[in-house]
Amino acid sequence: MQELIVAETAAQVRAQVAEWKREGLTVGLVPTMGYLHEGHASLIDKAVSLCDRVVASDFVNPTQFAPGEDLESYPRDFAHDCALLQAHGCHMVFYPAVSEMYAPDANTFVEIQSDMTAQLCGRTRPTHFRGVCTVVAKLFNIVTPDMAFFGQKDAQQLAVIRHMARDLSYDIKIIGCPIVREVDGLAKSSRNTYLDPQERQAALVLSQAVALGQRMAAQGERAARPVLEAMTAHIAAEPLARIDYVSAVDGETMQPVETLAPGVLVALAVYIGKTRLIDNFIVEGI
Ligand code: PAF
Repeated sequence: MQELIVAETAAQVRAQVAEWKREGLTVGLVPTMGYLHEGHASLIDKAVSLCDRVVASDFVNPTQFAPGEDLESYPRDFAHDCALLQAHGCHMVFYPAVSEMYAPDANTFVEIQSDMTAQLCGRTRPTHFRGVCTVVAKLFNIVTPDMAFFGQKDAQQLAVIRHMARDLSYDIKIIGCPIVREVDGLAKSSRNTYLDPQERQAALVLSQAVALGQRMAAQGERAARPVLEAMTAHIAAEPLARIDYVSAVDGETMQPVETLAPGVLVALAVYIGKTRLIDNFIVEGI
């Protein structure tokens, strides 16, 4: 097994990637905020299967957190992350300090000027996608990958990054990877660690609602409203759950739709206690 290279500076990453490119090797990027789990591992596996060299970034990006969100308490365990990355064949981890990514007076941001970042998670997190786009653009500029890998669990983020990569003419193939779930269905997330045992049990309403919606769509229900109502009623029956949204939107533009055509994204965000969790499914051919 090759040694995982730990790079703390952009200059180190650039030098190593330049060497790989001189050798004619392709490079994949897996951006993460660390505290890695099997969902991240599946992104690394996919990247390793498609690229000669794989770089993961491990950076809790402050610009995508609003004041009062969980920036300070976001879980971190770099030693564990390195062990997982090495075990899955990742070649380099970029682990910058905040000061390496943002100068004290940094004030240039990448922001999509359309409604797609105002829908779904953007309604309660209005500055979130500006922070995501800014850090992902910076990572694209530093790593200059051929391909970049993102999880389908963050479906809006994936759509936003595809849109940004197109608008800014990045010559990078954006690859979306399927949601990875615990055996009982809960979508893997670093934030699952916030849940106490009772909340962990209650959190199952998210994946149960997804399964219910998927079933109704597979049985031929084409109207979004009864599906969203059934999903909402299922979640609302759980006393520890507070719904942020349950919505059906166009999978690319994030605009609300009334019909469950193939490619429609049915997405939800639910607070379980203080922890905000998300899940979704894409409508398949009916
Ligand atoms: O999905 C995440 O973990 C983050 O939003 C990302 C893409 C690594 C940017 O900080």
